Amino acid sequence: MSIVIKNGTVVTADLSYKADVLIEGDKIVAIAEGLVGDETLDATGCMIMPGGIDPHTHLEMPFMGTYSADDFESGTRAALAGGTTMVVDFALPSPGQGLLDALQMWDNKSGRAHCDYSYHMAITWWGEQVFDEMEAVVKRGITSFKHFMAYKGALMVNDDELFSSFRRVGDLGGIALVHAENGDVVAELSARLLAEGNTGPEAHAYSRPPQVEGEATNRAIMVADMAGVPLYVVHVSCEDSHEAIRRARQQGKRVWGEPLIQHLTLDEGEYFNTDWDHAARRVMSPPFRNKQHQDSLWAGLQSGSLSVVATDHCAFTTEQKRYGVGDFTKIPNGTGGLEDRMPMLWTHGVNTGRLTPNEFVAATSTNSAKILGMYPRKGAVLVGSDADLVVWDPEAEKTISSQSQQSAIDYNVFEGQTVKGLPRYTLTRGVIAVTEGKIASQEGHGQFIPRNARGTVNRALSQWKDLTAPRPVTRSGIPASGV
Ligand code: URP
Ligand code: ZN
Ligand code: ZN
Ligand code: ZN
Repeated sequence: MSIVIKNGTVVTADLSYKADVLIEGDKIVAIAEGLVGDETLDATGCMIMPGGIDPHTHLEMPFMGTYSADDFESGTRAALAGGTTMVVDFALPSPGQGLLDALQMWDNKSGRAHCDYSYHMAITWWGEQVFDEMEAVVKRGITSFKHFMAYKGALMVNDDELFSSFRRVGDLGGIALVHAENGDVVAELSARLLAEGNTGPEAHAYSRPPQVEGEATNRAIMVADMAGVPLYVVHVSCEDSHEAIRRARQQGKRVWGEPLIQHLTLDEGEYFNTDWDHAARRVMSPPFRNKQHQDSLWAGLQSGSLSVVATDHCAFTTEQKRYGVGDFTKIPNGTGGLEDRMPMLWTHGVNTGRLTPNEFVAATSTNSAKILGMYPRKGAVLVGSDADLVVWDPEAEKTISSQSQQSAIDYNVFEGQTVKGLPRYTLTRGVIAVTEGKIASQEGHGQFIPRNARGTVNRALSQWKDLTAPRPVTRSGIPASGV
């Protein structure tokens, strides 16, 4: 059984051209004009793009006393509905738990995935067992390690642990990820706000100002530089953090920044809504920011100082959010976005002229595949690549509504927004999963995708670090030690 996609324009990160795409099994086997297959998908008026990769999701994650409500079943179904064909989720060991043990737990959950997936491994504590098991994790094709500089008393690691782990990641040829917020300052600010009677969701934003993100980003960049490891900063929400990344990149450091679709399109005004539920549903870390910060993020995508757009999909129901009535620090942190990331970025990015279609592909797919070590199997429209494709209709419109979404939660942070630009078809490894909004994906179709360590950036960085490493000076005469 072969499938041919005809009459469309292939749009990749660096090129747009007229061609048909032929798929056999789960691979792209030909790209040319005039191809024939057993089944034909019409792409008239559409662009044939690599399926989206969301490099940052939390599906069925134990967090803040509960579990995020979308699991690998509903989460990956939502992904496909919005044109995303792969997610990279976070395997999160609880403090004291081994990495391989946590991986086993994530393997047990991910068997229900509708699309392909990988994991980042979180380093939530430090010890000999963690050090040792990191090697086995890399051998399994999990080459990125996440560190939380916030969530004090739970997931946070200190600078000494950060440095030890970063060095280990560098030696193993992986990349270090950070959630960059100064957890000590956030904890102090939160306690003070509560004591002063600031208990509502708006205090969540007050407790995590841009400065705490900027400081932690600068610190992570310094530690990564000392450790000789490439660094990826997740959910960059503000100019303070973006500025640190931009400067580091200009200095030749290997640092990437990941803004979220939520921070690009929603602002801090959401927290001042007089409806408690409305505000609490939007509580996430870092919080939404003002328009100047949003403009900075868009400029970063345009100029290349920010590299990928993610969702950090970590969805909680209204009932779960209400754990924090009377104490904002107990509102589970996180928002959804998997189904909406690509239509929202197209609408607010491409339709406004802020991004080209090729830049859209780079930010939603190709750059993640390259940075995380799975290009060109993923993130590409090339012969031999996986047939993870989205046939994108730039004229199709819908209004976002929780009534029609795939996610398991009872609301949507983008509720009521009209988007223009939607998948006509989404294919996951050669299987047609979505046709004009109708879902026909298969639970369990998704496969784990191992990723490569020691990519070209790792090799270049370690070569440079070796060349410039401290060396003792060879001296001809050593003076006798005087008294
Ligand atoms: O608020 C957020 N972002 N929740 C998910 C966990 C994390 O920090 O990424
Ligand atoms: Zn985070
Ligand atoms: Zn509302
Ligand atoms: Zn996250």
